[in-house]
Amino acid sequence: MPAVVVLGAQWGDEGKGKATDQLGSRVDHVVKFNGGNNAGHTVVIDGEKYALHLLPSGILSPGVTPVIGNGVVVDLEVLFREIDALEARGVDTSRLLVSSAAHLIAGYNRTVDKVTERFLGKRRIGTTGRGIGPTYADKISRVGVRVQDLFDEHILAQKVEGALDQKNHLLVKVYNRRAITVEETVEELLTYAERLRPMVTDTSLVLNQALDAGKTVLLEAGQATMLDVDHGTYPFVTSSSATAGGACTGAGIGPTRIDRVVGVIKAYTTRVGEGPFPTELLDDTGEWLRKQGGEYGTTTGRPRRTGWYDAVIARYATRVNGLTDLVLTKLDTLTGLERVPVCVGYDVDGVRHDEMPSNQSDFHHATPVFEELDGWWEDISHVREFDQLPAAAQRYVLALEEMSGTRISAIGVGPGREATIVRHDLLS
Ligand code: GDP
Ligand code: IMO
Ligand code: MG
Repeated sequence: MPAVVVLGAQWGDEGKGKATDQLGSRVDHVVKFNGGNNAGHTVVIDGEKYALHLLPSGILSPGVTPVIGNGVVVDLEVLFREIDALEARGVDTSRLLVSSAAHLIAGYNRTVDKVTERFLGKRRIGTTGRGIGPTYADKISRVGVRVQDLFDEHILAQKVEGALDQKNHLLVKVYNRRAITVEETVEELLTYAERLRPMVTDTSLVLNQALDAGKTVLLEAGQATMLDVDHGTYPFVTSSSATAGGACTGAGIGPTRIDRVVGVIKAYTTRVGEGPFPTELLDDTGEWLRKQGGEYGTTTGRPRRTGWYDAVIARYATRVNGLTDLVLTKLDTLTGLERVPVCVGYDVDGVRHDEMPSNQSDFHHATPVFEELDGWWEDISHVREFDQLPAAAQRYVLALEEMSGTRISAIGVGPGREATIVRHDLLS
């Protein structure tokens, strides 16, 4: 099994961290290929909870080489805070590799993120405020600062000057903020340069050599399909490629290397931030789901918006990612419902849609067409075999599999590493 991608099939927080962690002991490298510390992955091992933001979830598996790929945007202070916190808990982070081509988040990117959100007012995206979008904007505008620039102070100052030039005009004249100096930014970035240096390498070369040697590489996405800058609910998206294609560009490996694309999907749906969400529940049931599922953001602590499972989105995620498997998470959260509605299509101004509308306004106007399935009352958190699930829970999973177009290979019944029902091995 060469390269496997694990990604989110909805709007994030599907449980990618847990899925990656479970495969950790059987892979050689785990690569984060997109996003930055906007992500928040919770992994629970033997009752111990770890919240990871910038580091790949594979960091928790002894023996794995964790890799921060070129597609990631790196906040150095956050990186070392996270490393120090894990080391203090006895996790060995010494094998971490960081791409020399990854972009750096500077203080001015965080400032721009915050002021633009404030100025957008009602049209705000609801970003995590970590400077993610502005850093990717700099990358695409070709004024980004990369990890390798840290090791030549002259070049670093030149790049920072280029990046700040226009921004200071905007900050001072439009946003009424103080100008940010080249010196303070260079000083901020250099604080961690020497600590970072031994980790920096050509990670694309390392990964391709590992694949050539028959090693297994797991590519772990941050965010999710519906937050992808191309395929998500633009403009209410993040600024990176969170879909399967992003794994290739963000890690520097070719598509022919990828054997398996695993979509992680919740048994219902959540979203953080603004933007359309057809199956959203704004009533007591939505609050019940939030409480039952502990749906509060790992990164910002914001309450997550909640709604029913949406099979249109599952089919869309299957299509744009070429999914080979689904991991269905949080089935245990639905325990106790008499009936469980599932969205099978949309009604858009009287017209039935079975596929994701290609026009964003249609998606905003989409009303879900629900099918109601039977619920179950039994506690399923200790179940480890599919046929031990209550009959209604089995029927729920099989119905979702049928409507989503991809086989459900694993089912999560609790946050712990072991709380999973495996139907098909993801690595063979
Ligand atoms: P990620 O961003 O996709 O890695 O997901 P998050 O970690 O942000 O959110 C998923 C949450 O659900 C975390 O608190 C996990 O510990 C938890 N979780 C994952 N899988 C399951 C599951 O099958 N059942 C339950 N009850 N919790 C789960
Ligand atoms: P994980 O990896 C859920 C959302 C933000 C906002 C939008 C843009 O834990 O699934 P950004 O700061 O990226 O510019 O914000 O994207 N968002 C996430 N929502 N899970 C995430 O990551 C997210 N990362 C970003 O809430 O709506
Ligand atoms: Mg998360």
